[in-house]
Amino acid sequence: MDQNQMKKAVAEAAIAYVPEGSIVGVGTGSTANFFIDALGAMRDRIAGAVASSEASAARLCALGIPLLDLNDVTDMPVYVDGADEVTSQLAMIKGGGGALTREKIVGAVARTFVCIADGSKLVATLGRFPLPVEVIPMARAHVARALEALGGRPVLRAGFKTDNGNVILDVHGLSITDPVALETHIDGITGVVTVGLFARRPADILLLGGPDGVAEHRRPGAGLP
Ligand code: 5RP
Repeated sequence: MDQNQMKKAVAEAAIAYVPEGSIVGVGTGSTANFFIDALGAMRDRIAGAVASSEASAARLCALGIPLLDLNDVTDMPVYVDGADEVTSQLAMIKGGGGALTREKIVGAVARTFVCIADGSKLVATLGRFPLPVEVIPMARAHVARALEALGGRPVLRAGFKTDNGNVILDVHGLSITDPVALETHIDGITGVVTVGLFARRPADILLLGGPDGVAEHRRPGAGLP
């Protein structure tokens, strides 16, 4: 299987985690797009979806899947999304597609976070992929200085605005040995909207694509049924 086939395979495998009649949280990116396409085939058996980006909302709409406002949702059994990097503890770097803030919000509401990724995304230590940080535009220089003080090299994502009207700093050169502490620290920098570290609320289940198919990894302590 090539990388695209692995993405499709994990996305299709994630359908098994979607309870009939439920509201589904939907991520953003090429792997999530395969999941949306698979969800289209069961659109009459779900109550609807909450999207983590305008792009995913448009794709869900095109398939006739009812879109719901997160504020109207009290129970979301599952959120399915890709990742840029994921560890064996199921901590992730996300935000390569720039949707990290809404992804983190929708993921926070879901009871179970299912990460779908091809095998290339599994890493021992997070940080080779530049860490996306969504920033209020007027705070860009201030936040960049604070990120440099942490040993990173922040680079403004050129010509890009998030769905929330903010900018992204991609931070190169970090070796993230304590993702929970770094997430907390960067979240505390004034002007930061969201850091693309998903460690305080990691995934609960990882569906990882490999040459021989899809393997399920459950996070120890995730409290899954
Ligand atoms: C978007 C994300 C994506 O999940 C991440 O970038 C992975 O994307 P892809 O599935 O295209 O490899 O966090 O903000």
